[in-house]
Amino acid sequence: ARKFFVGGNFKMNGTKESIKSIIKNLNEAKLDPNVEVVIAPSHIFLPIAVDAVTASNVAVAAQNVSNKPNGAHTGEVSVSQLKDIGVNWTITGHSERRAAGESDEEVALKTKAAIDGGLSVIWCCGESLEEREAGKTVEVVEKQLAALAEKVSGDDWKKIVIAYEPIWAIGTGKVATTEQAQEVHAAIRKWLRTNVSDSVADETRILYGGSVTAKNCKDLAKQEDIDGFLVGGASLKPEFVDIINSNQ
Ligand code: 13P
Repeated sequence: ARKFFVGGNFKMNGTKESIKSIIKNLNEAKLDPNVEVVIAPSHIFLPIAVDAVTASNVAVAAQNVSNKPNGAHTGEVSVSQLKDIGVNWTITGHSERRAAGESDEEVALKTKAAIDGGLSVIWCCGESLEEREAGKTVEVVEKQLAALAEKVSGDDWKKIVIAYEPIWAIGTGKVATTEQAQEVHAAIRKWLRTNVSDSVADETRILYGGSVTAKNCKDLAKQEDIDGFLVGGASLKPEFVDIINSNQ
């Protein structure tokens, strides 16, 4: 069985005090021990987060990473720098990074560089409203997956968690229906089965992200191919604990 997974993407939010307070809440909460939790604060707060986490099933992720080794890349952060401060995860390909110019190929290169450097990755995909309305949802996601599969192989897949985040659902309060989400999750799993392997299709966690709240998470969690969530806004609030515990 795939272990339920809940990520918190804090995006460009928080202060050192608010990050510490969110983590204190998580440390003190009764978290379902069968859930893997990963929180992703801004780079500058990563050392604070690594120090503050005491809950055994909570890990810390970066929101982005460079695909290049250390060197002359002003403003970037490398995989080895993340490892150096005790970060073992990164998000790649969030739609907000893709909107800032990251191509499918660059996202795949970052994912591969992260894995080669010893990080696990929450790799994000998802369609825009325009693409959904044109009936291109699965096509877009498959194209993103194909670019990833060109760069990663074999055991790399064991280090990847996929997050399906329809762009029209992110930060809008317009959550995908359980049917809409399950349909794309099933298509992703089918693509993995056809193009990678049965074991990768069976073992890879596929998260849903986009306006997840304590209210809507329970029904989504019941869907066969939804193995957890990547939560934005609600991960900054106490209800994040209810989302973590939504699979109980
Ligand atoms: P919201 O939960 O705020 O819609 O954000 C989702 C997201 O982008 C998580 O990566």
